[in-house]
Amino acid sequence: MASKPKTKTAFFCQNCGTQHSKWLGQCNSCNEWNTIVEELISNTSTPSAWQSPKSTINKSVKAHKIDSLQTDENQRFSSLNAEFDRVLGGGIVQGSVTLIGGEPGIGKSTLLLQISLRLKVKCLYISGEESEQQVKLRAERIGIQNQDCYLLTATKSQEIFQQIALTEPDIVIIDSIQTLHSEILDSAPGSVSQIRQCASEFIQFAKESNTPVILIGHITKDGNLAGPKILEHMVDTVLQFEGDRHHVYRILRANKNRFGSTAEIGIYEMQGAGLKEVLNPSEILLSKRDSYLSGNAIASSLEGIRPMLVEIQALVSTAVYGTPQRSTTGFDARRLNMLLAVLEKRCGFRLGAKDVFLNITGGIRIDDPAIDLAVIAAILSSSEDIPLANKICFAAEVGLSGEIRPVARMEQRISEAEKMGLNQIFISSHSKIKAGDYAIEVISCGKIEEVFERLFG
Ligand code: TYD
Ligand code: MG
Repeated sequence: MASKPKTKTAFFCQNCGTQHSKWLGQCNSCNEWNTIVEELISNTSTPSAWQSPKSTINKSVKAHKIDSLQTDENQRFSSLNAEFDRVLGGGIVQGSVTLIGGEPGIGKSTLLLQISLRLKVKCLYISGEESEQQVKLRAERIGIQNQDCYLLTATKSQEIFQQIALTEPDIVIIDSIQTLHSEILDSAPGSVSQIRQCASEFIQFAKESNTPVILIGHITKDGNLAGPKILEHMVDTVLQFEGDRHHVYRILRANKNRFGSTAEIGIYEMQGAGLKEVLNPSEILLSKRDSYLSGNAIASSLEGIRPMLVEIQALVSTAVYGTPQRSTTGFDARRLNMLLAVLEKRCGFRLGAKDVFLNITGGIRIDDPAIDLAVIAAILSSSEDIPLANKICFAAEVGLSGEIRPVARMEQRISEAEKMGLNQIFISSHSKIKAGDYAIEVISCGKIEEVFERLFG
């Protein structure tokens, strides 16, 4: 009786992808508990690359002098989706691999199908999650016709590459990397080794054929991209698609970008017929209202190079229970605590026994420190129960001693406020701004007390 070849297994950490020789309760590389699983690995043994015979030198692989290399003029092409281009740093780079992650149902498939349908180049959309019928229904819903967009429902990477060779697409989109599997490995789709293998096959394909590849990735319950962390190192660009399920706005951010800045964001609105690009965010982020209520303040914020006005809402009320509550949506809770401590300690406002709720309208998240002053103004307005004057906004950071600090790109923030029809902006007295240059009234302050004096004094 022929003896069965011995199958080889190894233990991989599902969090960081480290390989272990035996099962462990805790990964000694990333210190996560219960993340190690046994996986089958290939049982063919190939000699290590270092030991391969020198006679098989591949003539097409050669080291070149950097100076002698030519750059390609048409390195990028437009996705014809202004927000997507902006986040990528000016369009899709030839031969690049982009990974886009997001919660289930946030609209990743919708966004990429929409981009595929709008592209003027030949596109291959590979779906491992949905049937042809389902994708077709979605395409009908989006309502764009395109003769040059191909759909393939497959999950085996070998079959996919055969179809790529037949269709010769100019761009490949994969929905999603977790559903693919390569025959080289025996482990199940979605396992660390399969994700790594399939991703590296597509990365190799992208680099050798100079075809851009976009991979959709699932995220885990704690918000990280599922699969090995090294996946993020392997690809050129990592994008994150996020938003509040209860709001229609979706934000696309770059977490890593080898070809552009990571400061840019793209804003979309989910509608009945797909995602609509939001080209003027200030208009949608300012709530439409006639009468002004206490606790609302407008901040002139900046995401990447794009200024936008956002509205901050605060509610300060007496705590019903012993420990006051602090809750935020779209703003860092620790930063709120810091600002409350500054108000308490440096400016003598008694907020220690109050519940404070803070909300940035539109369901978006802002990390720009320049909204500090607007947060403070909203809190003070709610606490005093006095609405702020109709058309004022704020753009300054607040320091630990209650000083008002200047922020970057003041001119753009002031111009945006002016453009949106506001008539006063509070900034730091240390900003190098000539107030006379603007039609809007620029008010410089050095301390929170001065701002309080001007607003409610
Ligand atoms: P989907 O792209 O399937 O999300 P993901 O791929 O990230 O899991 O998005 C699904 C959601 O989007 C679904 O709840 C319905 C909604 N949607 C619209 O509101 N309008 C549309 O035109 C489409 C296609 C989807
Ligand atoms: Mg999907």
